[in-house]
Amino acid sequence: MWKKLTESADYLLSRTNIRPLTGIVLGTGLGNLINDVSITNTIPYSEIPNFPVTTVEGHHGNLIFGHLGGKPVVAMQGRFHYYEGFSMVETVFPLRVLKLLGIRQAFLSNAAGGINPDYQVGEIMVIRDHINFFPESPLRGKNIDELGTRFPDMSEPYDRNLIRIAHSVAAKIGITLREGVYLGNPGPSFETPAEYTHYRMIGADAIGMSTIPEVLAARHMNLPVFAVSVVTNVAIPGNFSENTHEEVQIAANRAASDMAKLFKGVIMESPYQI
Ligand code: HPA
Repeated sequence: MWKKLTESADYLLSRTNIRPLTGIVLGTGLGNLINDVSITNTIPYSEIPNFPVTTVEGHHGNLIFGHLGGKPVVAMQGRFHYYEGFSMVETVFPLRVLKLLGIRQAFLSNAAGGINPDYQVGEIMVIRDHINFFPESPLRGKNIDELGTRFPDMSEPYDRNLIRIAHSVAAKIGITLREGVYLGNPGPSFETPAEYTHYRMIGADAIGMSTIPEVLAARHMNLPVFAVSVVTNVAIPGNFSENTHEEVQIAANRAASDMAKLFKGVIMESPYQI
């Protein structure tokens, strides 16, 4: 695995002069952050040795190298989901490669169902903590000692400094920013009304099918994580309606420009890019 990771990283280092300090993962329908990046190189996943290839509709498969708010970044346009059939180890392969390129922080986004009754479609929730319902961990198996320790700490999965900065950026640019707990389900089916109710009872504010694998891999590598959910549908007692991928994409697209502004603002002020 270590050899495969270094092979992919060496390839990318030979294809771009950008040395990114931030790795960005764009969730479903949230790709338009790319419009704010002054792009130096676009590298299709299919050209990168050992990279998996995305399949799901609405997800592109490119690594974008450039600058956002004047800072060097690499953005994954399209992520790898467990529900597509990738193993947990495959889903985190790209983020591990980005770490080898030198990133100092991971910025993750996803589309999610809001189960906190205060939340509305189109709002953004910064993730403070998570509950993991994936059936296994990307860290299971022989530890890759070059990346991190066997038993990673998870007492602060989401970086408190970055969350604090996000609240001040949100106030400055005039967007409502929620803060809450993300629950990750393997999917691909959406939840039943009883499941949404159950997840609310155990302390979740939003539910999605991604992000947690990357957070586990990032914390293993000791990378600070900043993650947000865009609320694309709400599911609360008295308001359970049909969920579709199209509805999720449309709602995410609408909120994508707010999310882009937030990411840009936090990246500009983050203390970790040294
Ligand atoms: N559940 C799980 N994943 C999701 C949802 C949801 O309601 N909305 C967007 N992604």
